[in-house]
Amino acid sequence: MNIIFLGPPGAGKGTQAQRICAALNIPQISTGDILRRAIKEQTPTGLKAKSYIDAGKLVADEVIIDIVKDRLAQEDCQNGYILDGFPRTVPQAEALTHIANIDSVIELAVDDQHLINRLSGRRVCLKCGATYHISLLDGKTTCAACGEELIQRDDDKAETVLNRLTVYHDQTAPLVSFYEEKGLLHRIDGAQGMDVIFQSIMETLGVK
Ligand code: AP5
Repeated sequence: MNIIFLGPPGAGKGTQAQRICAALNIPQISTGDILRRAIKEQTPTGLKAKSYIDAGKLVADEVIIDIVKDRLAQEDCQNGYILDGFPRTVPQAEALTHIANIDSVIELAVDDQHLINRLSGRRVCLKCGATYHISLLDGKTTCAACGEELIQRDDDKAETVLNRLTVYHDQTAPLVSFYEEKGLLHRIDGAQGMDVIFQSIMETLGVK
């Protein structure tokens, strides 16, 4: 099954993608994670992408489309995947139609105030990609999965979060109608608890 997770920053795409991928045994393709890894490794793509990400802007379509095309050609994607954070513009969605057949688009809908609270308290593990919220960490500062020190993403600082929300409403939200018109869109209330959302997605995908 080839699935897209669509939604604003902080909607829970990464959190749910990890859980659904584990349940379905398919890879999570997060363009944000790929770019952050490239920045950490100081690759040419990472060096180019850093200023855009730090400012809360989108990286150029051509760069992202090439990344996704290469990634989806790999062996582990042949039985399905979840695209988390791609596509994010209409040109990206149009390019994807030439690369893959999408079975389902899950939109996680959450209002902006809720998103600001979530993102300001998010802590992430750059080693394994696990995501936490400070309210549930009980003062712990390391990753429960791999032991790495948790960090706050640079783009989770207040001003950048507001930029990212503006970019979402201007450039990514039009994809809701793009996929609605294709009959692929399923909207789920992303403000519910994580377990409830997980169950709703599994039911929507027809998986028990
Ligand atoms: P990316 O990493 O994709 O960031 P994003 O889309 O802004 O999404 P986030 O990772 O911030 O949020 P999420 O929805 O995954 O939420 P999460 O599960 O972590 O992109 C970063 C940057 O890279 C972009 O700004 C851009 O510059 C660039 N980029 C990436 N893809 C691109 C593309 N295709 N084109 C161009 N540029 C691109 O949850 C958030 C927090 O909430 C966590 O703390 C979590 O624990 C908590 N939480 C989650 N669910 C719940 C719940 N149900 N209840 C309570 N708390 C919850």
